[in-house]
Amino acid sequence: MKGIILAGGKGTRLHPLTISVSKQLLPVYDKPMIYYPLSMLMLAGIQEVLVISTPESLPLFKDLLGSGANWGMQFEYAEQAEPRGLADAFLVGEKFIGNDSVCLILGDNIFYGRGLAKVLQSAAALTHGAIIFAYPVINPSRYGVVQFDQNGRATSIEEKPAKPRSKFAVPGVYFYDSQVTRVARNLKPSPRGELEITDLNMVYLEKGELNVEVLGRGVAWLDAGTHESLLQAANFIQTVEERQGLMISCPEEIAFRMGFIDQNQLANLVDQLSENTYKVYLKRFLEDLQ
Ligand code: DAU
Repeated sequence: MKGIILAGGKGTRLHPLTISVSKQLLPVYDKPMIYYPLSMLMLAGIQEVLVISTPESLPLFKDLLGSGANWGMQFEYAEQAEPRGLADAFLVGEKFIGNDSVCLILGDNIFYGRGLAKVLQSAAALTHGAIIFAYPVINPSRYGVVQFDQNGRATSIEEKPAKPRSKFAVPGVYFYDSQVTRVARNLKPSPRGELEITDLNMVYLEKGELNVEVLGRGVAWLDAGTHESLLQAANFIQTVEERQGLMISCPEEIAFRMGFIDQNQLANLVDQLSENTYKVYLKRFLEDLQ
């Protein structure tokens, strides 16, 4: 399976923060925002990742992430000149996806919690259909909202409904089989002029090929797209990291834990880091391995 991180858009909700800096490069406590969704893909076992962003911001992502080789990853980059919608990622990424299945994750979605790696790894084994998630929130009308019948089967998904029919929002991480580019190509832009991920998911739902898994309260899903949620996300990361002494979404650590790099490669990476708390953390991690 391949991975796509969608990290474009205008970030207008975060202006003036994002007038000259891409939202997905903003700090969330001690790391750039994109490290969090990238870590999710890595935990799913995905090593080939396409980063999609605007023509202005793409060089900044390349500067930050490079080829990925240091982390045992392979990064590719593609421009999305205009925010034509989330499902447009599959058209921009058509060549990259080829005949593979693919996981799309939004560059401003942050996840943390128990059992998440297992959930991701089993979703990444998908060969047919699609898997998306549902997560209870207090303000569903800000999101795609999924409705279930008595048997827990998804019956509909609506994008930002004024009157949500459930409290279950659809988080920004989606797994699809290799048909997804064909499905995306047949979508029509919505009234707001975008290729909607919700419309794409409805196609899978109507074919009976959409699996919606509820993420329980043991998982935190944060989106960092507003001033409040950005600060809340940073506070959350700081609180958990300081309490446990463990980093959330540290790609170097995950690359090692997933077996993408070995201990020597990790030690070399750590040597190259500047003297700061990020390095201290990874040094301690290496020492604990001895
Ligand atoms: O966060 C989950 C929600 O993400 C889902 O529940 C919704 O169904 C889905 O439509 C989406 O809603 P948002 O209102 O968060 O979408 P937004 O337009 O803000 O785009 C999400 C991110 O993707 C944003 O950080 C910018 C980026 N983006 C967006 C569009 C439309 C792109 O890179 N390119 C685009 O064309």
